[in-house]
Amino acid sequence: MAPPQGRRGGFSGRGRGRGGGGGRERGGSTPFKARGGGRGGRGGRGSGRGRGGRGSNGGMKGGSKVLIKPHRHEGIFLGCGAKSDVLVTQNMVPGDSLYNEKRVAMQNQDGSKVEYRVWNPFRSKLAAGVLCGLDNIWIKPGARVLYLGAASGTSVSHVSDIVGPTGVVYAVEFSQRSGRDLVSMAKKRTNVIPIIEDARHPGRYRMLVGIVDVIFSDVAQPDQARILALNASYYLKTGGHFVYSIKANCIDSTISAEQVFKGEVNKLIADQFKPKEQVTLEPYERDHACVVGGYRMPKKKNVAE
Ligand SMILES: C[S@@+](CC[C@H](N)C(=O)[O-])C[C@H]1O[C@@H](n2cnc3c(N)ncnc32)[C@H](O)[C@@H]1O
Repeated sequence: MAPPQGRRGGFSGRGRGRGGGGGRERGGSTPFKARGGGRGGRGGRGSGRGRGGRGSNGGMKGGSKVLIKPHRHEGIFLGCGAKSDVLVTQNMVPGDSLYNEKRVAMQNQDGSKVEYRVWNPFRSKLAAGVLCGLDNIWIKPGARVLYLGAASGTSVSHVSDIVGPTGVVYAVEFSQRSGRDLVSMAKKRTNVIPIIEDARHPGRYRMLVGIVDVIFSDVAQPDQARILALNASYYLKTGGHFVYSIKANCIDSTISAEQVFKGEVNKLIADQFKPKEQVTLEPYERDHACVVGGYRMPKKKNVAE
């Protein structure tokens, strides 16, 4: 079965076509891939509106037979049911449900059990980005991730599942209220380090955070590009990667979402980031985009040299 991909609308800088089909198109002068979210492909359908929205458990019916298949992103899986497929991650804490999400237990051939948790793209921008067709999120088993804007930790818990016991997630959140839930989640997940701090001051958590492979940023603030750049300068390895979630309204509500996305990409480029791809997050989030790329990327050697 083909992996789930958001259908890609042609790139015009707008990128919000409802699945105009077609392959990836480079748009105008944009030096990287930007595309519309579309409907999320087969992998997204089961979690589509009305079936897997915020209030639901992610679109999989209890009791239905489910087949688990690896997703093209390492560490993520697809739960394939009779009517729909959903994203799932392997539960680091079998038997534990964090936000009433559906769980699926499977038995291996050797009799051991593995449990998966449904990952709802309406509740996680990262899951939405995956279903909208991001080629690489760089968050994979063993990765060291700095997660900015952890909220109460629902998405962080899936990142924790993905990186697994050999990886680590430094989860930064400044709201004391959300932070309480985050801390209690991290008590069970030993690979999550909760940090209740303002991400505008990365120096304040230098005793807790090491060099990371990836920064995921979802702080939804007007100065979020600067916050990402500051944190990258402290903690992101040279040649590391970023995943940047943009909520257009939070940056500037007076211009179009597409203009906001473009402006944010330009800010990133000015701060030594190299954006590689961009997807919009419809139908899961309106006027949101996810940009992924590298940081202080080594210059490619000229073949003639
Ligand atoms: C859009 S929500 C994050 C949702 C979360 N990533 C998820 O998918 O479940 C943004 C979060 O960033 C937090 N935040 C905003 N500015 C921040 C800052 N300067 N430092 C740390 N956290 C911040 C907010 O309190 C909020 O919980």
